This record gives sequence, structure tokens and C-alpha cells, in this order.
Amino acid sequence: MTGRRDDAGGAGALRRWWRAGRSVLLEYEDATLSVTHLTDAIARVRATPADFLPRRPWSATPPDDAFPPVEVAVEATGDGVTVRSGGGLAVHAAATGARVAVLHRGQTIMMDGDGGGPAWHADGRATWTHRMPPDENYLGFGERTGLLDKRGQRLACWCTDRYEYQGAGVDPLYQAIPFYLAVDAAGRSHGVYLHNTYRSVFDLTAQREQRLVMAVDGGELDWYVMAGPTPAEVVTRFTHLTGRMPLPPRWALGYQQARWGYDSAERIRAVAADLRRHDIPADVLYLDIDHQDGLRTFTWDPEAFPDPAGLAADLAADGFKLAAVVDVGVSHQPEGGYDVFDEGHRKGYFLTEGDGLLLRHVWPGLCAFPDFASPAVRQWWGRWYASLLDRGVRGVVNDMNEPAMHDLPMDHPDSARVEPPLDTPHDLDADHAEVHNVYALLENAATDAALRDLRPDERVLRLSRAGGTGIQRYAAVWTGDNGSYWEHLEMSLPQLMNLGLSGVAFAGADIGGFFGDCGPELLARWFQLGCCYPLARNHCARGRAAQEPWVWGAETLDACRAAVRLRYRLLPYLYTLLADAAETGSPVLRPLLYHYPADRRGRQLADQALLGRDLLIAPVLRPGVTARAVYLPAGRWYDTRTGAVHDGGRHVLVDAAIGDGLPLFARGGGVVPSGPVGRYADELPLNPLTLDVYPDRDGEAEGELYEDDGASMAHTRGVRARTRYSYRDGVLTARPVGLLDAPARLVVVRVHHPTGPELTRLIDGGKSWTVRA
Ligand code: GLC
Repeated sequence: MTGRRDDAGGAGALRRWWRAGRSVLLEYEDATLSVTHLTDAIARVRATPADFLPRRPWSATPPDDAFPPVEVAVEATGDGVTVRSGGGLAVHAAATGARVAVLHRGQTIMMDGDGGGPAWHADGRATWTHRMPPDENYLGFGERTGLLDKRGQRLACWCTDRYEYQGAGVDPLYQAIPFYLAVDAAGRSHGVYLHNTYRSVFDLTAQREQRLVMAVDGGELDWYVMAGPTPAEVVTRFTHLTGRMPLPPRWALGYQQARWGYDSAERIRAVAADLRRHDIPADVLYLDIDHQDGLRTFTWDPEAFPDPAGLAADLAADGFKLAAVVDVGVSHQPEGGYDVFDEGHRKGYFLTEGDGLLLRHVWPGLCAFPDFASPAVRQWWGRWYASLLDRGVRGVVNDMNEPAMHDLPMDHPDSARVEPPLDTPHDLDADHAEVHNVYALLENAATDAALRDLRPDERVLRLSRAGGTGIQRYAAVWTGDNGSYWEHLEMSLPQLMNLGLSGVAFAGADIGGFFGDCGPELLARWFQLGCCYPLARNHCARGRAAQEPWVWGAETLDACRAAVRLRYRLLPYLYTLLADAAETGSPVLRPLLYHYPADRRGRQLADQALLGRDLLIAPVLRPGVTARAVYLPAGRWYDTRTGAVHDGGRHVLVDAAIGDGLPLFARGGGVVPSGPVGRYADELPLNPLTLDVYPDRDGEAEGELYEDDGASMAHTRGVRARTRYSYRDGVLTARPVGLLDAPARLVVVRVHHPTGPELTRLIDGGKSWTVRA
């Protein structure tokens, strides 16, 4: 084997192969390839011209040996070597060039093709080229601007602070998740995860040549392929590999009100009072950097927030939970008096540059930055969260953690975004080029460990702006500094759907837009869509037009309130979706293609979405619009606003003036649980439970409801209930699945008959029951 080759050096001819533990190693003239089956449907492929690199502690995937052994058969012919699992996932490595083809159950799901495979370049980059069939769609890729499918684009993975980002074409954003879901013309899907934390690029621009190139700036060519055949199976497998979210508190599904500029306890109290006065159900209020003393992380402004614990307690009595922002930049105060800096500096916990600290500007002025690659630093950082939790804070927002930094003071006209130099040293002999994309992930791992320690029996809400593969294990995500533009409203939907396909089920965009000045129509429409985001938070930049629901008068307020109330009514359904996400990795907000991958008319649609399996939303995303076309996939669909029943596989035109509310359709075949609307999520018990039964063409339907106490960790000890409902032959049956039974209560059963009036029954529900309706 040689080391790095001249430009575009490939692997050469296969010399020999052998089994090594659970892998098959193939030695080519100029590179070594390793093929490892981790499950019957997930394989890992690595190629290197030198030695395989040791696994780094920040890998998002478990070590290969953590997976139960998989039986594989190896077959060698003149064409190359095939490694096949009993479950039918075969990786074929060609006799030259280490080009790979992957087959699932006898069908080729991906291949490198002529001119494809791994290559090493003189500039230090390495690439792997797959074939990009013309009729295949590519989704996922973490957090992106633009629409759903990413053919024709070049997408970088590099956590980047995008202050005031604009629409399509801006790339990359805050999250670096090098994963894609490919769906072929017949709807067969597979996923590819590039297991490398250096800057990487997916280049899908060579459409004529039909090539997809994955490039890495350093490290190894190392990727996992996940078979489907359905998109849901691919996402389940990807999250099996990279982790799933812990179940957040149920109240995290409530409406959340934030604003950079709520700069005193009085202001926060007034917002809380306004929310209640205007009858807007709400659960969470945010303290942005305004609560800090001199904008310094983990401090409290003694004048503006003299008694945070008292504030939290008063708000709690009214059903509100407080969340507070944490920035990674630690104010540089060599003169002393700021314990976070003092201690971090004394212990050598900050990034360095030359002989001194790496100092750059963030909100408080010059800042130092913790080295989260160090386990000791992570432990130390985590302990500071006590300064928030001890004062009654129940949610934390890890912000500016790309890490965000400027060369000059933030308010200087020439101030520009910068990044730590790539050769900045980190713990474990790493440099910033390798650590950058996991910097925020490691911070969030620290937060997660600390919160579990500080509040072992409480689910604390966590949000992060930056992150990488597997961020869902630690935090929900918001899409950073979007703007109050219709284009951003539109973009948020594909953005969140692609994040969901990338493993991040719990995410939201700032409702109303962060930058810019939101007007009444945009605000109303943003509430209509935003109340269907997995995370529904209204947030706005300092100095921009206010965008609380009541600032534009009665009509806008009514529209916003109706949207929030719809969300609260659906909390039982939404919470079940979160529980599913925690168990299987399934997204909450799904592109139509997730359930209808073979439907060519629906698969590219980015302006409508499935909320779980059984609800379809078709928001209005442009001003002045009063009707919209909605594509309904095959089957029967019910317009929940009018009761109209449609046959799918076609478009329908529906009324969509603001006052008509969000166009929301229920799938024939679904049972949707809902509940009473309280002032906050947990104010009222789920009594009565309402079950809307939407029979399919055969008169059948089914659904599920997940329940637990919504706040503690008791669910992890089995204290949770799941009930399955099935409707057939005019009879609805409830059956507990799992250990615990649902509590006894009233149940309102509404069967929506396409021809007759809907039937409503009120029954005494217990653990299992049957009713004719
Ligand atoms: C960043 C965050 C934003 C926050 C602001 C001030 O721009 O993305 O949400 O309000 O910082 O802390």
C-alpha cells in the first residue's frame, strides 16, 4: 500500500481478502477496504490507503462489536467479492477500484458504477463516488435551506452560525448531519451515513454524469448503508445506529413564547399575564441573554432579575415553565470576579492559540471557549447548569455553539463571523478540523449528563442550535436565526421534514421569524403552520417588530389562538408521536413520501406534510391566498374542518382564508385521540378523551394513544400506558398494549361516516372496552 496518491488515486486491483473478526478485509494494490455487517440490514464500508483509524470517543455510532454478531456468507468470483447477510443485505466489492454495489433481497439498491468508488487526492481530500440514478430522490442531509429533494446541490457539513440567513442556496447551517435518504422511482429506499466528523461535502450537481460524490477534508472514507425498503425502515435503522431522543416532558409540546429583549422579570410577568388574558394556551417562557449579568453565561442580572426563584415559582403557579439560554463563549475577565472564567482559566479548560487563550468576540465582548473534547471540561461545564436549575429553570437552550464568534465587537460595523483556526489544538490530540462538527454535540452531551445528574427524575427541556449526527439523544433543535419572510415560512416545512428524516424528530423554526418585522398576515399564517411544528416556539430578535399573538388586533389574535388551541386539542396525538420518535426514531412531521414512497405525484411536495401517519396539513405559505390545492395520496381523506370526504390520488381545492383555519385532513383508516384544551398542557386530565374515528373504504380504522405522567422519568421504569384502538364492522375496541392500563375515564367516540352524520357515543372507558358506533 502506498500513502496519499497523486490526484484522484484510486484503490487499484484486488490482491487478496480475508475475514477479520466480524469484518471482511480486502487488500487492493493501493488501499484496503473493510466490509462489516452490523445487522441484517446495516453494513459499514471503510476504505483507506494507509491504516484504519482508531474509533474516536465522539463517534455517533456504537463500536462494531456492540452489535450482536451477524452471520455472513462470502463469495469470491473473478468480478470481486460479495459479503451477504442472511437478511439479504449484500455488499459486492469489485475486483478493481474497490467499487461497491449494495443489494437488498436480490435487488441493487446502490452502486458506485464506472468511475466511482474511493479516491484520494493530492490536496488531502478523499472522495467516494456513487452512481446517482436520474429518477432517484435525495432527502435528509440534516438542516438545510431550500426544498425537499437535494438533487443538483452541493451540501457541506460544517456547523455554521448563520446570522440573518436568507433562503435557498445558503449552506451550510448550524447542524452537520452527513446522512441522506435515497428513494428510487419504485419507492424503494436506502440510507447512507458518512461517518466522519471533518468537513464533508455531498455533491449532487453532476446530474448529467449521474454521480453523487461524498468528499471529506480529513479522516477516513467510512460510511454505513442502511437498507429499507421503506423510508420508515431506513430512518429506524439510522436512528438505531445513531440514537433516539429521550422523551421530553409533555409540556414541551405546549406553546412557547420567547423574545430576545424580554429584559426584566416584570416584562416576563407581563407576557405571562397577556398570554392568560388573551386566552392563548401556553407552557414555556424563555429568558434570553437579557437575564444575564453583563451578558455573561451562567449569571443573573441582579437588578433586572433580582429574584429568579421567586419569578419561576410565581409563573409555575400559573402553569408556566422557564427556559434559559446558555452561550458557549465565556466572557474574558482576567481581572477576576467572574467565576466561570476564573475557574475555567485556572484549570486550563479553554481553547488556546499560540501561548495564550483563543479569544474572539461574542455578546459580552471578548470570550474564551471551553474545549468540549475533554471529558473533564464537559463535567465541569455541566455543573454550571445548577445555577439555572436551582433557581427554578426547567429548560435550557444551548446557543452560539457552532461555536459562533466574531473578529471585532458584535456591534462594530465591520464585525465579521470567524471560526477557530482548523489547527486549534483540542484534548485527545485532536485539532479543530476534526472536532468542529462535534463541538456542540459534545457540549450537549455534557448538558445531558449534568441534567440527569442534577435532576435524575425530571425531564428538563433541552434545545440546541448547533449539533451533529445524533444530537437528538441530547436536545431538541431549532433552526436558528430565520427571518420574518414568507419564503422562510415556506422553507421551514421542508427544513423540518429533512431534519426529521435525519433523526431529529423534535425540532421547530422560530414562529414569526427571528429577524425582520413580522406583519399580521404572516404572523397568523405562521401560527397556523408553526402550531404543527414538533416544537412550537415564537421567537424574535431584539429591536424588531413585536410578534406576540395579540400585537395586531382581534382578527390576528383569533387566528393565532385558534391555531394554538388546535395544537392543545391534539396533544394526546402529538405526545404519542413523540413517544414513537423516542422508541423508533420516526419523525413527527413527515413528507408524503415517508408513507407513500411510490406515489410520484406526492413525493416531491414540500408545501404540505403528514403530521404522524394520520393527519395531513396543507398550510398557506403566500400572502393574499384564500384557497389552495392539496394533494391527497391514495385512500380516503376527511377534511376535518368541513367534514367533506375525498378520494385520494388527486388534488382537491379547498377554502383557505385565514379565518378558515389550517387545512387539516385526516386519513381514512386512522383513529385520532384528542383531549380538552387547558391553559397549559397539564392543567386538565385527559378526561374526556375524544377518539375521532375515520373509517377507510373498508370501514376500518386504527390508532394508538401513549400516556404517562408527562414529567418524571417513571416511564423509563415501565410506568406508561399504550392503548390500541381498532374499528371494524361498526365496533370500536380499545386494548391495552404494554404493562400499564389507561386510567378509567369518559371517552367520546366520534365515528365520521362518509355518507351519514357522524355518530357520537359517550362511554365509561377503562382498560379495555368495546363499543358499537
Ligand atoms: C442567537 C440566537 C437567538 C438569540 C440571540 C441572542 O442569535 O440564535 O435565538 O435570541 O442569539 O441570544
